[in-house]
Amino acid sequence: MVKIAPSILAADSAKFGTEVALLEKAGADLIHFDVMDGHFVPNITFGPKILEDMKKYTNLMFDVHLMVNTPQRFVPWFAKAGADIITFHLEAVENCREIIALIHSFGCKAGISIKPDTDAAAIKPFCDTIDLILVMSVEPGFGGQKFIDTTPEKIRQIKQFTENRPVLIEVDGGINTETAKHCLKAGADILVAGTAVFAGGNYRENILALKGEKI
Ligand code: DX5
Ligand code: ZN
Repeated sequence: MVKIAPSILAADSAKFGTEVALLEKAGADLIHFDVMDGHFVPNITFGPKILEDMKKYTNLMFDVHLMVNTPQRFVPWFAKAGADIITFHLEAVENCREIIALIHSFGCKAGISIKPDTDAAAIKPFCDTIDLILVMSVEPGFGGQKFIDTTPEKIRQIKQFTENRPVLIEVDGGINTETAKHCLKAGADILVAGTAVFAGGNYRENILALKGEKI
């Protein structure tokens, strides 16, 4: 069964605590927490203190997406703040294995993300050790962008690299009921959605619709 990870980036940031509680009640499977540093991507977002505070309002797992340079500097902070999964960008680091080991040393699951222009094959050497692959279906940095149509093909390629052990495939950016279908068909396990979950305010209906179900 597909999992939906609402991106908290699309929530009213003045109400984060109540919003994560509502998302849990509405059937969200995990909370996607986008960290941006103004260097790896143009935008800036949140630090570990906000994560630590939000944890008090939900039992859902926190899926931290580090869109930052030198992610190794931030891994200990987010791990201690309560991250369950920590994903960094392959494009932002020189030694992926070192960071994967660092994330695992804190007892967190480790993910690698690739931007739309990065080849699927770049992920292959790390499939023996990672827990999750985050495929960006928009350029990282902002919510509300249009899904890049070549993403399902990329998911299919990645799926072949992960045949031997369980590695989750997550897709992030421009997910709506239509693009969700293509990602699922291609083999995605987790869909990140900001705009599509928060639009109109009925989180339960929106989450079910992304899963291809109705209330
Ligand atoms: C983009 C972020 C996404 C984004 C998704 O850099 O990583 O998580 O919030 O937002 P939507 O669903 O609006 O494309
Ligand atoms: Zn994200």
